[in-house]
Amino acid sequence: MAVSKDKFGRKIDYLRISITDRCNLRCRYCMPEEGVEYKSHTEILSYEEIIEIVKAGIDFGITRIRITGGEPLVRIGVDELVGMLNQLPGIEEITMTTNGILLPRYAQKLKKADLDRVNISLDTLDRDKFNEITRRDEFNQVISGMKMALEMNLNPVKINTVLMKGINDDEIMDFVELTREFPFHVRFIEYMPLGDKKEAEERYISLTSVQEMIMDKGELIPVNIKGNGPAEYFRLPDGKGTIGFITPISHKFCSLCNRLRLTADGKLKPCLGSDLELDLYAENGELLDAGGLKSQFKEALALKPGRHGFFEEGQETFKREMFQIGG
Ligand code: GTP
Ligand code: 5AD
Ligand code: SF4
Repeated sequence: MAVSKDKFGRKIDYLRISITDRCNLRCRYCMPEEGVEYKSHTEILSYEEIIEIVKAGIDFGITRIRITGGEPLVRIGVDELVGMLNQLPGIEEITMTTNGILLPRYAQKLKKADLDRVNISLDTLDRDKFNEITRRDEFNQVISGMKMALEMNLNPVKINTVLMKGINDDEIMDFVELTREFPFHVRFIEYMPLGDKKEAEERYISLTSVQEMIMDKGELIPVNIKGNGPAEYFRLPDGKGTIGFITPISHKFCSLCNRLRLTADGKLKPCLGSDLELDLYAENGELLDAGGLKSQFKEALALKPGRHGFFEEGQETFKREMFQIGG
């Protein structure tokens, strides 16, 4: 089996595939409220094209896949895509990051298609605040989606919580308590500046102080949880779930990076915090052939920066916002 390492010695075997830039929420840290220009259907990779790209990815060393968006469950037939990916020899894990709204409808189908597990975004346990953060009244649906994920054993079920100063930092202990009662794995995430940089600067909270604050109130025991990402996990002594910390800004975990990203419009992105991207279409508008796709994977590896450029001088804005990358 192929193993691909970059010039910093990082083994790259994880591909995050954004299958759509559309979303049924408008989270403030991810997407503008209005004026979003979605890609047209003809500009978006078909499922067949995604499979061709993943085949080249497997040849290059990809073994794990995460499906993201926008919101992946708004694209019709996503369970079929999971099924198609599962047919490919060499793929060991398929996961999804979703906002959970459509899980009540899709969780069973996804389980049947052999999706391994889901990560669900939820930044608040308060319905009004949810409406403020996401600009949509879908809190109850997300909660039903979370329950459904547990019922369908899409485990470990992780919850992604982006902390925002003055918005949800008063709920940190409520999320911690949630892990005492339920087998959810809540991950606090540092706000990354892919959209409005000023807003990101104002809202950013370093998780170093958050972790200290939680530890002041009670014991946190380090644990390992199944996952491919950069989170570090702990549990309360009597916790059913765990508490994780994702610290792209305060701890720059880039030296452990193991991933490439595929955007819905057919670009390979070597790094979330860089504008570099490689086109997977040839000049005639056709997807590259197997050899061409594999060379683009190799090129992405060669170009993969050592670390991201968030909050760095010279990197004031980014070409893509989070909804166009998928986290
Ligand atoms: P598992 O650990 O396998 O469960 O998944 P994950 O944490 O990689 O995936 P998820 O989509 O849930 O990502 C959680 C958060 O981590 C999101 O806010 C992502 O934007 C962030 N994140 C994921 N990968 C990277 C990365 O390469 N760099 C940075 N800076 N942030 C990342
Ligand atoms: N900073 C940190 N995390 C973000 N996400 C979206 N935008 C940002 C941001 N600006 C997270 C969402 C979702 C995951 C894919 O990315 O919470 O769970
Ligand atoms: Fe949609 Fe996810 Fe972005 Fe929120 S974070 S707007 S749910 S893509």
